[in-house]
Amino acid sequence: AKLLVLHGPNLNLLGTREPEVYGRATLADIDSSLRERVEAAGHAFESLQSNAEHVLVDRLQAARQDGTTFILINPAAFTHTSVAIRDALAAIALPFIEVHLSNPHRREPFRHTSYFSDLAVGVVCGFGADSYRYALDAALARMAAPAG
Ligand code: DQA
Repeated sequence: AKLLVLHGPNLNLLGTREPEVYGRATLADIDSSLRERVEAAGHAFESLQSNAEHVLVDRLQAARQDGTTFILINPAAFTHTSVAIRDALAAIALPFIEVHLSNPHRREPFRHTSYFSDLAVGVVCGFGADSYRYALDAALARMAAPAG
């Protein structure tokens, strides 16, 4: 099985971006610990960060044909704006977990709505970099056992 991890806009700045909100872990730190656990479980791993909505839409469309079986996505600001990324997830119909470092429900009202949550298997938010770790636990439990 294959896990695809998608990170939305400004997450390339993790580590230096508002560390009191998002923590000190970098995106490379997060991806490398996810990769380690996914590969140790016998699955393939791919991740992509983009600041561009169309890049994320294109990557999701490609996931339909590249063997992806499960997705973790932190849509970042697109959580609250992107019908296009939502529609891509609906179109490919692959199971996904919505992840956030912060707890958007404790923040400004415009962060309280998500275009993704009602389509997601589940949502993990508020635990910093550990949000990804907890989401991965749930994803691994749902991914098919590796062949052999
Ligand atoms: C975020 C929360 C969003 O509201 C914000 O726009 C982000 C990051 C998070 O991981 O906490 O960029 O998705």
